[in-house]
Amino acid sequence: MAPKNKTKSLFNPDKMLLSKESSFSVQEAYKTLRTNVTFSLPGNEAKCIGVTSAYRGDGKSSVAINLAISFAQINKKVIIIDCDMRIPTVASKIGIDSKPGLSDYLAGTNNMDETLIRKIPEYGIDVLPSGTVPPDPTILLESSQMQHIIEILKKYYDYIILDFPPVAVVSDAAIMSKSVDGFLIIVRHNTSEYTKVEETLRQLEFADAKIIGFVYNAKELENIYKGSKRYYYRNYYKTRRKDKKNKKEEERQSKS
Ligand SMILES: Nc1ncnc2c1ncn2[C@@H]1O[C@H](COP(=O)(O)OP(=O)(O)O)[C@@H](O)[C@H]1O
Ligand SMILES: [Mg+2]
Repeated sequence: MAPKNKTKSLFNPDKMLLSKESSFSVQEAYKTLRTNVTFSLPGNEAKCIGVTSAYRGDGKSSVAINLAISFAQINKKVIIIDCDMRIPTVASKIGIDSKPGLSDYLAGTNNMDETLIRKIPEYGIDVLPSGTVPPDPTILLESSQMQHIIEILKKYYDYIILDFPPVAVVSDAAIMSKSVDGFLIIVRHNTSEYTKVEETLRQLEFADAKIIGFVYNAKELENIYKGSKRYYYRNYYKTRRKDKKNKKEEERQSKS
C-alpha cells in the first residue's frame, strides 16, 4: 500500500477563493469591498477587521479569506486568523492543517512561530488556523493573551482579519470588540432573516463594536450584457450611513 501523504496539498483551493481566474463581477465586488473597508478605517496604522454574521453558512469564512487575498493583491501584508474554534473552516478552504493554531498558542502549548503562522504563497497571505479544538473557546478568546497577540501582530501586518463564529450562536465576536477596529456583517441572499441580522447588529453594538458595513453575499446576477440566462455570484457591500456614535450625537442635538 502506498504511504499515506500526511501533508495536505496547498494546491487544492476551494472554488470560492478569489484568484485571477475568478469572474469579473467577483473580482470587481472584492475590489469595491476592499476600497470601502479601506475608507471606513482611515489611517496608516495596522487594522484588525472582524467578520461575522447571524448564522453558519452565510459566507463569513469565504468573505474573510477573499478579503485577505484582495488586500494581498495590492501588496498589503495580511494575516487571517480563524477564531471559529468550534467549527473551523479557514484551513480546509485553503488546504492546510488546522492544527496547531491559535488555541494551542492561547493554551500555552505552542509559541507564536512559523509552525503556527503558515505562509500561503499562492494567495500572498499568512494564516493562523484555529488549532486543537478547546473545551471552551470563548475563555481563550477573552484572555489577555488574545488581546496581546493582536497587538503584536499589528507590528508585522497591515491587516489582521478575524473569522468569527456566528453571533446568534456564540458571543465570541462581541467579546473581542475591543481588539477589533471594525466588523463586517455578512448577510446572505435568500437566507438571512431581517430580525436575525438586526439582532446580530444589536449584540455587536451593545458590546460597543464598530460596524463598518454589511456584505450582501451570494446574490445571483443575470448577465444582462450577453442577454443570456447565466448568473453570477456577487458580493455586494453596503456601508452603514450612520454609525452608532453619529446617531447618538444627532439624537442628543435634536433634543437640546
Ligand atoms: N458568494 C457565494 N456564492 C456561492 N457559494 C458561496 C458564496 N459564499 C459562500 N458560499 C458557500 O457557502 C458555504 C458556506 O460558506 P462559509 O464561508 O463557510 O460560511 P460561514 O463561514 O458563514 O459558515 C460554503 O460552501 C461556501 O463555499
Ligand atoms: Mg465559517
